[in-house]
Amino acid sequence: MLRKPVGVITRGTTNPNRLRRVDRFICNQAILRQIDQPLIVDLGFGANPTTSIELLERVKRINPKAQLLGVEIDPERVARAKTFETEDLRFELGGFEIPETATFQKPISLIRAMNVLRQYDQSEVAASWSLMQKRLGPGGLIVEGTCDEIGRLSSWITLDKDGPQSLTLSFRLLGLSQPAKIAERLPKVLIHRNTNGNAIHDFLEQLDKIWQTNSALSVFSPAQRFTASCQGLIQAGWPIAREPKRWRLGELTVAWEAVC
Ligand SMILES: C[S@@+](CC[C@H](N)C(=O)[O-])C[C@H]1O[C@@H](n2cnc3c(N)ncnc32)[C@H](O)[C@@H]1O
Repeated sequence: MLRKPVGVITRGTTNPNRLRRVDRFICNQAILRQIDQPLIVDLGFGANPTTSIELLERVKRINPKAQLLGVEIDPERVARAKTFETEDLRFELGGFEIPETATFQKPISLIRAMNVLRQYDQSEVAASWSLMQKRLGPGGLIVEGTCDEIGRLSSWITLDKDGPQSLTLSFRLLGLSQPAKIAERLPKVLIHRNTNGNAIHDFLEQLDKIWQTNSALSVFSPAQRFTASCQGLIQAGWPIAREPKRWRLGELTVAWEAVC
């Protein structure tokens, strides 16, 4: 019996390469190397499947056997995407429930849902997460977030079957004046919490202050300035993952319980 996909059709805005930052993060997830033939789901791929194709290409560099299922709630977008199908790349109609596809009958290792929940009401986030969580295989992850039009600012939450684990903020450092600008691109669940007295607000405020304190370092490089800012946040007690290589790329991950 065919079930109605869960969710609503929203704007299909997308852009080539705008998810490069989140894809780099995804490619660093151990599960994609540990599983012999991991299945990735790209939920809500948009008006065209370019970013799904890019994600599979990137993951195949670390695991050539990876497969990807693009899921979209708009039947016309699915029909258009089907012309790009290959043996390891399929597109199907579906929503947050994620159809149990006849093509790839296996547990899902990772779900990427970028710029999907942004157009929903905040009250719908928990139920949508829960539906996606039910579809994860052992050790599976969900990466759910938002970015700007061309991917210079991105943020995402990483969830496993038990719930959210971390928040990642990723910036193009060149020309970055105020990291707290990322507030406009926070994952849906955090946007409305970004007000005085809430943890995410304190965090972004402190990130901005420390970034300004380190302004002298920008004569060397914005990467040094960002690295010093991450170290400053750790000294101030924020549980930031100690990953200097990622800091140099303008990316930090903070434990979820500190910002939720
Ligand atoms: C703004 S586009 C994002 C495209 C791409 N992920 C990106 O970030 O560039 C959002 C897409 O998600 C789709 N969508 C919204 N809710 C969905 C759901 N519950 N299940 C599947 N697709 C959904 C919309 O129809 C739309 O095409």
